Order: sequence, then structure tokens, then C-alpha cells
Amino acid sequence: DLARDLAGRHVVVSAGGTREPLDPVRFLGNRSSGKQGYALARSAAARGARVTLVAANAALPDPAGVDVVPVGTAVQLREAVLKAAADADAVVMAAAVADFRPETYAAGKIKKKDGQEPAPLTLVRNPDILAELAGDRPRPAQVVVGFAAETDDVLANGRAKLARKGCDLLVVNEVGERKTFGSEENEAVVLGADGSETPVPYGPKEALADTVWDLVAARLP
Ligand code: PMT
Repeated sequence: DLARDLAGRHVVVSAGGTREPLDPVRFLGNRSSGKQGYALARSAAARGARVTLVAANAALPDPAGVDVVPVGTAVQLREAVLKAAADADAVVMAAAVADFRPETYAAGKIKKKDGQEPAPLTLVRNPDILAELAGDRPRPAQVVVGFAAETDDVLANGRAKLARKGCDLLVVNEVGERKTFGSEENEAVVLGADGSETPVPYGPKEALADTVWDLVAARLP
């Protein structure tokens, strides 16, 4: 039954954008709404998969029948994804994860003092979860999918990122007005480590989600 082609599978999806706190009221974040990741989770559940959705700061309703694990920071997202990935058939990283976080967290709200220059902001590297997952798979046959939101040289940057991260598929979406971050629609090219290129025309995020699962299902043992 093609409609239930993920029955008996466990898939992990990350969604949303991480927030890296500076003090109790401020953070470094990004414009991810979580919509693309939630569409992936809904689509996989509809196709029969058991779904773990690791959701970073997404203000969206929990999809029916999906196990939602809320997280805040990149470090928390890593913990939750690696834990769920241990017995997963596929992992799809749609979350926008901060590459860097502030080196220090101020326990009290940072104050502005009259006549004083602002203190410089020092950042440290966050773990690269996708590279770690793809390089050290808990199950050798696990399918690992990344996303890349690019502003220029979209395909060339996507190819380079696919090779660098070591994943099986990379969904490259161009940052634009009515697509990618925050919108209901998206448009993408799904690059395969096997050299394949699958263009997905502008349309609802659900349509891109369905194409991603088609490509994942074709790669499952
Ligand atoms: O949430 P929406 O509003 O619906 O928007 C969807 C989206 C634009 C967030 C989504 O479609 C998307 O493109 N997600 C990836 C955003 C991005 O720019 O990723 P990146 O190029 O920084 O990272 C590449 C890949 O590595 C991603 O799969 C990311 O999850 C992963 N990564 C990145 C950094 C890091 N430290 N660890 C990671 O695992």
C-alpha cells in the first residue's frame, strides 16, 4: 500500500529555530517558524510512520499522533535528536540550528550603563548535529536528510554542503519573499549523494514534505 509506505518505520524530524540565550530575556535566534518541519512530521504520520518531532521554539499545534519533544537551544536539540535517532530508520533535519552561541550567559538582565560602550559579544561554536549524525550512524542503513537555506549560488553551495555534512539527501531552498522562512509555501531542489537532483516546484510545504518522504522511502532497506 503506497499510502502507508512508512508503516513500521520510526522517523525523526527536527523543526523550528534554536534560540541561544544571552540573559534571562534575550537570545540569538532566526526566522524559522517550524512550518516545514511540522509538514514533514504530518506527512510521515499520514504514511504510517511513528514520528518523533523535535521542535525548537515553534508556536504550532502538536500534529495528531506525533511524539513532540520541545527544545530551546542547539545543545538541547542535539540531545533530543541523538536520543530519538538511536532506533530511527530516517532523520530529517529541517530545523534552523544556530552555528554559534554566546560564550557566556548572564544570570541577571544585562544593563545599559550611561556613557559606557556596549560590551563585545563573544561567540563559541555549537555542535554540528547533522554532520555528527551522518558520520556516526547508530544504524548503518539509516537515511539522513539535511536542509539548507541559501541566499546565493544555491545549487553550488548545496552540493558543497551535502558533501561536507555527509548526508544522503540535502533539501536546498532559496531564501525569498514568499517561501522558505515563515511562509506556507516553499520551493526546493533535493540533492542526492548519488548525484540525483529532484526539483520541487513552488507550492505548499506539504508537497515538499511528500517528495522528501518519497525519496527517503526509496532509500530504506
Ligand atoms: O520553519 P519554516 O519557517 O517553515 O522554514 C523552514 C526552513 C527555512 C527553516 C527550512 O526549510 C530549512 O531550510 N532549514 C535549514 C536552515 C538552514 O539554513 O540550515 P543550515 O544551512 O544552517 O544548516 C544545514 C543543515 O545542518 C540543516 O539540516 C541543519 O538542521 C543542520 N545543522 C546546522 C547547524 C548545526 N550546528 N547543526 C545542524 O545539524
